[in-house]
Amino acid sequence: MSILLVSGHPDLQRSVANQAILSELSATEIQCRLLDKLYPDYQIDVLQEQQALLAADVIIFQFPLYWSTYPALMKLWFDEVFTYNFAFGPNGSQLKDKKVILSITCGATAESYAPEQFNFLDINHYLQAAMHPVNAAQMDIVDTILTFEMNSTPDEGGDQQQVMQLAQQHSQRILASIQQYS
Ligand SMILES: Cc1cc2nc3c(=O)[nH]c(=O)nc-3n(C[C@H](O)[C@H](O)[C@H](O)COP(=O)(O)O)c2cc1C
Repeated sequence: MSILLVSGHPDLQRSVANQAILSELSATEIQCRLLDKLYPDYQIDVLQEQQALLAADVIIFQFPLYWSTYPALMKLWFDEVFTYNFAFGPNGSQLKDKKVILSITCGATAESYAPEQFNFLDINHYLQAAMHPVNAAQMDIVDTILTFEMNSTPDEGGDQQQVMQLAQQHSQRILASIQQYS
């Protein structure tokens, strides 16, 4: 069983939550593709990315929530990698039925994702839109692991120690999910 993690964080050197999650997972069999390290110039190697996806049985999309979707680097990655006749189209079912785990860090509170609150809508509305390429490719989202309140910026009321603790719990949930689905 081959497990691939695609990290969409635009700059892991400035990350607390995603960096901590990735380091918790570094001693496991999960193969990580860190898009910010692979493509600091945003020039995606489409064939290499497609091959990595084809070789995987379970794919984890790991990203911080930016404006209720994935960061621009991961958007570009989806735009370029999920092509006609690869991810969709008459001969484009190459990713069909591959298992997907969404692993998302959020700065906001869970309560803020509701009508008339700061983030307006239930989080699932945003995620459904964000996962359009994954659904178009007929992939199978088996789990969504989402942790709120992972803001570590002190000026914004963040608490780095709390984020580190949440990151550890988040990683444990990823490992439990993998055990279930791989
Ligand atoms: C440009 C930008 C947009 C953000 N938008 C959201 C958002 O819409 N909802 C949310 O919960 N957090 C939002 N955040 C907070 C990030 O999700 C949070 O800082 C991140 O998950 C922490 O992970 P990191 O330490 O690995 O960067 C945003 C942060 C940035 C920089």
